Amino acid sequence: MRPEEAFQGAKVLITGGLGFIGSNLARRLVELGADVLLVDSLIPEYGGNLFNVADIADKVRINISDVRDEHSMRYLVQGKDYLFNLAGQTSHLDSMKDPYTDLEINCRAQIYILEACRKYNPQIKIVFASTRQIYGKPDYLPVDERHLLRPVDINGVNKMAGEWYHMVYHYAYGVRSCALRLTNTYGPRMRVKDARQTFLGIWIRLLVEGRPFEVWDGEQLRDFTYVDDAVEAFLLAASQEEAYGQIFNLGGEKAISLKELAELLIRINGGGEYRIKAFPPERKRIDIGDYYADWSLIRETLGWEPKVPLEEGLRRTLEFYRQHLEHYL
Ligand SMILES: NC(=O)c1ccc[n+]([C@@H]2O[C@H](COP(=O)([O-])OP(=O)(O)OC[C@H]3O[C@@H](n4cnc5c(N)ncnc54)[C@H](O)[C@@H]3O)[C@@H](O)[C@H]2O)c1
Repeated sequence: MRPEEAFQGAKVLITGGLGFIGSNLARRLVELGADVLLVDSLIPEYGGNLFNVADIADKVRINISDVRDEHSMRYLVQGKDYLFNLAGQTSHLDSMKDPYTDLEINCRAQIYILEACRKYNPQIKIVFASTRQIYGKPDYLPVDERHLLRPVDINGVNKMAGEWYHMVYHYAYGVRSCALRLTNTYGPRMRVKDARQTFLGIWIRLLVEGRPFEVWDGEQLRDFTYVDDAVEAFLLAASQEEAYGQIFNLGGEKAISLKELAELLIRINGGGEYRIKAFPPERKRIDIGDYYADWSLIRETLGWEPKVPLEEGLRRTLEFYRQHLEHYL
């Protein structure tokens, strides 16, 4: 079924719905006529932000709950047609400093969610937000889904388990679920406060504030997905039968070095400054070097491809933070 038909009147639950990707997904689902419930813990250091849904606040329902609360999850999944499972501890560095919290959210809570679905709503369709971090340092580029999984940090190990719990519930219990391995996703409503989640967020903040930003090393290659393209992938994955039981990479139109990205951002911004610095040692330990994805599987299976060029996506993102930065500090 096409997303335009699939979500009209559908009951949808988004965990992590007040976060960056979850709130953009919610906005699109509202446009498509879905009945949307957002579940989020709003833990202050994470990416959840009520401003992310300020413009659709009267069109969605919000439940401030933690996915680590088994009893809440049992109740919240009931009666839903779709679950977009995006709640997560997303900082790689934080996962090294506090491995237990990452374990609780990215592993244990995933089992609470899946058990709730298996027992109380086995008809639900689930898309899990996984990450390219689970590949670790690539053996070859571009990285396809058959690449060995060899995560270099605690977050990667736990996300890998979270992803595979979804596969187990699909293949062992018939709970229809699939996973998208996201690469660097960017756009309006991403967390820009500091470098905890992504370097691009802090670059954008400092650029908008007219301050220089730091580029660590600068030669690493990365690919980027604009958030609207990521949202489209979530909708396709949820609504197409062929997706269930599958794992797909997302990617970007091209790979770019971080130094080139910094220069592109400055050009789009019409000015700005950056400094090349050596990697801080605690980051170097868990760096994956060059990465970019082969996303031909999702193109061939679901017809997805990134539509928003990097330059256009960065322009829209900068524009958003020029207007709304105060809500993200
Ligand atoms: N943004 C990216 O580049 C990227 C890349 C790879 C994977 N992902 C995955 O996509 C998902 C969404 O990421 P995002 O970029 O929107 O991050 P985000 O931090 O903006 O969103 C995650 C949301 O989950 C919520 N959350 C965290 N712990 C929770 C808990 N215990 N209970 C309930 N809610 C909780 C947070 O409050 C936040 O709103 C995450 O699972 C992340 O691992 C994102």
